[in-house]
Amino acid sequence: MNKFLPVGIIGTGSYVPEKELTNLELEKMVDTTDEWIKTRTGISKRRIADAETATSDLATKAAQIAIKDAGLLPEDIDLIIVATVTPDMSFPSTACIVQKNIGAKKAAAFDLEAACSGFIYGITVGEQFIKSGIYKNILVIGAETLSKILNWKDRNTCVLFGDGAGAAVLSQVDEGYGMLASTLGADGASGDYLTQPAGGSRIPASLETVENNLHYVQMDGSEVFKFAVRIMAKSALQATENSGLKIEDIDYMIPHQANIRIIESAAKRLNISMDKVYVNLNNYGNMSAASVPVALDEAVRNGKIKRDDIVSLVAFGGGLTWGSSIIKWAK
Ligand code: UT7
Repeated sequence: MNKFLPVGIIGTGSYVPEKELTNLELEKMVDTTDEWIKTRTGISKRRIADAETATSDLATKAAQIAIKDAGLLPEDIDLIIVATVTPDMSFPSTACIVQKNIGAKKAAAFDLEAACSGFIYGITVGEQFIKSGIYKNILVIGAETLSKILNWKDRNTCVLFGDGAGAAVLSQVDEGYGMLASTLGADGASGDYLTQPAGGSRIPASLETVENNLHYVQMDGSEVFKFAVRIMAKSALQATENSGLKIEDIDYMIPHQANIRIIESAAKRLNISMDKVYVNLNNYGNMSAASVPVALDEAVRNGKIKRDDIVSLVAFGGGLTWGSSIIKWAK
């Protein structure tokens, strides 16, 4: 028997704001077309949080659904990890705000920032605490309100992103099930391709930073695109090999939902049929750290993922970062 405890996902949940913003509405806001957005990205619409709603509000709702789905109570949670690039504020962490909101009194809580790879980083970190016997139940949330840091006059970025939250509860599962292998990686030297330059200690917020749009997402889309296509396939393959399985063994893949062309070319490189790949970016756009857990929750609820299935999660994002996990579904 493995000396470590087997760790898997025993509950999932997700929540997206009600307000939809369609490509046709965007046509009235910036110099773009529904046709361009659909053909270049696959996105038709996205959800946008209202002025009163912050990331923790979306995270709280997704968390409550996931905890219920796991058959637990908030008091059963030992640790809360929130992956986000759009925290409510610098501190307290969004994880601490969620802890208060859900009443998870005994939980430790911290935020983790690995941009769009954040959920996979989060479950991989959480796994270590459970497999070593330190904690029993860990809530991992990917939650974002990207709409709050987008320049709605910049067509290169504002058409791509959306708001939402997804959550998962990690716990011990049956032997042979759960997280079989994960790979995480980073290339900090290429970090400038995707940034929110101001508001931290390098360029503190000032009137000038606001006037120069330095609090908005800035991206070199084609560089990120090239990186994404390469790393999605490489990372998923590496995690699969580390788990002792082959690509043919994968029953279902949940990729980061940034661009349908990135997903299709990664699937092609891996020789995985698109029937086995979950896509919901047409409805939500890129929700950064929330993309993978929202897609995972939908796939589980739609019956696409069931006990014994081998599930591959894979993501890339700002940092630059990437990650992939291979999970034998236990629920
Ligand atoms: O989670 C990680 C975050 N980011 C990503 O994953 C983004 C990865 N990159 C991409 O998805 C793609 O690179 C984009 C969707 C951002 C852009 O697609 P592309 O096929 O790489 O287009 P491009 O950047 O090469 O731009 C082609 C043209 C440009 O016009 P010119 O210079 O050829 O005249 C852009 O100005 O498309 C123009 N363009 C637009 N036109 C209409 C850029 N954005 C728009 C727009 N509507 N929204």
